[in-house]
Amino acid sequence: MCSPGTWMWRAALCCALLETLLHTARGLNMCMSGSATSCEECLLIHPSCAWCAQEDFGRGRTLTSRCDFKQNLHKRGCDPLFIEFPSSSVSILQNMPLSDKGSGATQYDVVQIMPQSISLSLRPGEQTWFGLQVRQVEDYPVDLYYLMDLSLSMKDDLDTIRNLGTKLAQEMGKLTSNFRLGFGSFVDKNISPFSYTAPKYQENPCSGYKPFPNCVPTFGFRNILSLTDKVDRFNEEVQKQMVSRNRDAPEGGFDAILQAAVCKTEIGWRKEAYHLLVFTTDDVPHLALDGRLGGLVQPHDGKCHLNEKNEYSASTEMDYPSLALLGEKLAENNIFLIFAVTKRFYVIYKNFTALIPGTTVEILDQDSKNVIQLIVAAYNNIRSKVELSVWDHPEDISLSFTATCQDGKPLPGLRKCADLKIGDTVSFNVSVEARSCPPRGTDQSFTIRPVGFKDRLEVSVDYQCDCDCSKKAQTNSSICSSIGTYNCGKCQCEPGYLGARCECQEGDTSSMYLSACREAEGKQICSGRGECSCNQCLCFKSEFGKIYGSYCECDDFSCARHKGILCSGHGECHCGECKCHAGFVGDNCNCSTETSTCVSDDGQMCSGRGNCVCGRCQCIEPGAFGDTCEKCPTCPDACGTKRECIECRLFNSGRLADNQTCQRLCKDEIITVETLKMDEPGAVLCLLKTDNDCVMKFTYSEHVSGQSVLTALKEPECGGGPDAMMVLLAVVGSILLVGVVLLAVWKTVITVHDRREFARFQSARSRARYEMASNPLYKQPVSTHFVETDFSMYGKSYNGVVH
Ligand SMILES: *[C@@H]1O[C@H](CO)[C@@H](O)[C@H](O)[C@H]1NC(C)=O
Ligand SMILES: *[C@@H]1O[C@H](CO)[C@@H](O)[C@H](O)[C@H]1NC(C)=O
Ligand SMILES: *[C@@H]1O[C@H](CO)[C@@H](O)[C@H](O)[C@H]1NC(C)=O
Ligand SMILES: *[C@@H]1O[C@H](CO)[C@@H](O)[C@H](O)[C@H]1NC(C)=O
Ligand SMILES: *[C@@H]1O[C@H](CO)[C@@H](O)[C@H](O)[C@H]1NC(C)=O
Repeated sequence: MCSPGTWMWRAALCCALLETLLHTARGLNMCMSGSATSCEECLLIHPSCAWCAQEDFGRGRTLTSRCDFKQNLHKRGCDPLFIEFPSSSVSILQNMPLSDKGSGATQYDVVQIMPQSISLSLRPGEQTWFGLQVRQVEDYPVDLYYLMDLSLSMKDDLDTIRNLGTKLAQEMGKLTSNFRLGFGSFVDKNISPFSYTAPKYQENPCSGYKPFPNCVPTFGFRNILSLTDKVDRFNEEVQKQMVSRNRDAPEGGFDAILQAAVCKTEIGWRKEAYHLLVFTTDDVPHLALDGRLGGLVQPHDGKCHLNEKNEYSASTEMDYPSLALLGEKLAENNIFLIFAVTKRFYVIYKNFTALIPGTTVEILDQDSKNVIQLIVAAYNNIRSKVELSVWDHPEDISLSFTATCQDGKPLPGLRKCADLKIGDTVSFNVSVEARSCPPRGTDQSFTIRPVGFKDRLEVSVDYQCDCDCSKKAQTNSSICSSIGTYNCGKCQCEPGYLGARCECQEGDTSSMYLSACREAEGKQICSGRGECSCNQCLCFKSEFGKIYGSYCECDDFSCARHKGILCSGHGECHCGECKCHAGFVGDNCNCSTETSTCVSDDGQMCSGRGNCVCGRCQCIEPGAFGDTCEKCPTCPDACGTKRECIECRLFNSGRLADNQTCQRLCKDEIITVETLKMDEPGAVLCLLKTDNDCVMKFTYSEHVSGQSVLTALKEPECGGGPDAMMVLLAVVGSILLVGVVLLAVWKTVITVHDRREFARFQSARSRARYEMASNPLYKQPVSTHFVETDFSMYGKSYNGVVH
C-alpha cells in the first residue's frame, strides 16, 4: 500500500509516517499483547505496564485490555485511583559517615563503607540503582599469622627467620601503629604413606638420616604463638622450633591453613583488623582426596579441631580440605592468604590463587631472606585495591556494578579499583533488578562486602509483585454471575465458564463470532495455536512452554538461543524477544557487560591495545595477544614497558622502583646470561641506557607456555661510548686522510711519468750524438700513397701511383 508511484515523494512520506505509527502500535502491544488475565500478570509483563481496576473500564469500546501504559489508561478514562502501578524504590536505613583514621579508642566504630544498610523494594524487570562508597582508612590494625612449613628442607629458612619478629614489627610499624604477630607450623599427617611410621621413626623420623640425624616427630598443624603484640615472644618461640621429616614430597599445608582460618579464638584474630596469613613452603600441598591413600575417607568438616596442646587433633581422621572449602572459610573470616613459595612452585600456587579468592602468591628465596620485603609488598598490594564481593546473592536478583575510582571516570562493569592510596575514597553504582516474583511472603537479603574488610552493606529486598486491588477480591460476586471471583475489575470464572461476566459456558458455540479470534482478516483463528470459544482464544498447552496473547500469538520459548539455551540463560523470553537480565546484552543475552576480566595488571582496559567486547578483549594492535592483550613483542612500545621492569628488577631504579608496583607489574621471568643470543624466533632486542653511559641489552620473547621471558646480559656494556666531538674529529680526520692519500698517489704517478719521459729524452739525445749524419729529428718530407681507382667505365682497369 506504500509502494512509491507517481506521487513518489508523498508516498515516501506516507510510508515513513505509517512506519512510525506501526512502531507505536507495536510498542502499545507490549502490555496489551501479553493478554494479562490479572493485575499481577500485567505487572510482570513489563515495568512500564499498569492495570486499571475500575469496574466499568473499557465497556462499550473496542480496546478492552486493562493492561496498558499508565498514560494510555489515563487517556482511556481510567480514574487514577484505580490505576495499579507500583515501582521500585530504595531507602537508606543506616548511613554513618566514613572514618578518616583507624587508630584510636573507638576502633569498633571505624567505618569504611557507606551506607551500611539499605532496603530495596523491587518491581520485577525494573532496574533501580544505589550508590556506595568505600575508603581504606589510614592506620588500620593488622594481624599477621606466619604459617611455616617445618619439613626438613626448610631448615635453612628456620635459621633465617629466627629474628624475623623484630624486623617485621619494625617494617610493619611504618604502616600501622597496631600490629600483632602469630606463628604456627605444619608438616603433614602422621600416617603412612605421608610420613615415616615405623617404630624406630616414632620419636625421631630423621634417625639414620646421615646429613641431619635429629628432628621432631611429624605433626599436622601446631599453633605455637597466638597473635600478640609482644614481638619478642615470636623470636623466642621461633628459636625453639625444630624441623621434622615426612616421607613424600607434598606437605599437609592446606590442613594448617584451614585450621588457622577457622580457629578464631585460638589464633586470636581480632574482629577489627586486617587478617594476613603468610604461608611459606617449598613444595606442593596435598589436596582433597589424597587422604584416601592413607585410608582417610571422611571429608573435612570445615571446623576447628585444636586440642589443649594447640595441635590439630583430627589430622589423622579427616581428609585434606578442598580448595572450595578453603576459599569459603578464608572469605568467611576475612583472611588474606599470601602464598610465599619458592620459584619452582610459583605457577602451581598461581593457579590456586585463581581458584581461591583473596589470595596472592609471591616468590620466596630459597632461604626465606626476602620474606619481609615480600610481606610488605603483599600488604601494600592488598591495601591498594578495593574489590566488592556479594554474599548470599539471591538467584533471581541481577546486580551490575560501575566503579568510579580515584580518577573520577566511571568504569561500567567493574567492581574493583586498584592503585589506590590509603585514604582514597572510591564509589560504586550498583544496578539491581529482580527477574521474577518469589513465592509469596519470602523476603530476600544479601550483603555487599569489600574483600577482606569486616565492613559490610546489608541489603534487604522485598518485591512489588502484588496489586492492592487484589486484597478486595470478592468470591461468588454478583458482578460475575455468582460463578466467579471479582478481582481488580475483572471476573475470574470458575472452571468451565467464560466471558467478561462469566456468562458463557465452555464449548458453547452458539455465541461464537470467529472474527473476534483472528488477529487480522485472513489469519488463522487464534494463530492456529488455540481454539475460539465465547469470543476468546483459549490457547493450547505446549510441552515447550506457555502460549499466550489475545490471539495466542505469543509464547515464551521461541527466542534466540546460544548453545541451545534460551536467551543464554541470562534473560526471559517474551513474545519472541529476549529480555536480558541486568549485566547482559545482545539478541540472545550472551554478552556480559562485566569488564573486570579485561583489565590488565597495569589497570588499563585491554592494556590499551584493544576493546573489551562481552567481557573478552579483542586486541586491535597488530601482534598483540593474551587475555588482556598484555603480550605484544612486536608493538612499538614493547621495549618501553619491559625496559622499566629490567630497570626496577635488576637495578632497583627507574619509575617503578620507588613503590611496590615493580613486584606487581613485572612478573616476567628474567634470565641473566653472559652473551645474548638472538636464536629465539619472535624475540625482540631492546636496549636500555643506564646512568653511567652504559647500555643494557636484553631480549623479550613470549613463550608458548604463556610466560614472558626477558633475557638480559649480566653486566651492562660500557664502551665508554663515543661522544659527539670525537665523532666529528674522526669524520674530519678521515676526510683529510683520504685527501692526503689521493694527493700522494697523484704525486707518485706524475713523478714516475716525468721520470720516464726524461729517460726517453736522454736516450734520444745520446743516440743523436753518434749518428750526426742523420738528424734524429729530421723526417723525410716525401710520403707515398697508393690510390686505387676503378676506371671500369672506360673499359680497362687503371692502377696509378701518385707521388
Ligand atoms: C596452570 O594453569 C594453566 C592454565 O590454566 C595450565 O596450562 C598449567 O598447566 C597449570 N600449571 C600447573 C603447574 O598446574
Ligand atoms: C547509576 O547507574 C544508573 C544506570 O545504571 C544511572 O541511571 C545512574 O544515573 C547512575 N548514578 C550515578 C550517581 O552515577
Ligand atoms: C460460592 O459458590 C459455590 C457454588 O456455586 C459454593 O460451593 C461456595 O461455597 C461459594 N463460596 C462462597 C464463599 O460463598
Ligand atoms: C553470542 O552469540 C552470537 C550469535 O550466536 C555469536 O556470534 C557470538 O560469538 C556469541 N558471543 C559470545 C561471547 O559467546
Ligand atoms: C608508583 O608507580 C606508579 C606507576 O604505576 C606511578 O604512577 C607513581 O607515581 C609511583 N608512586 C611513587 C610515589 O613514586
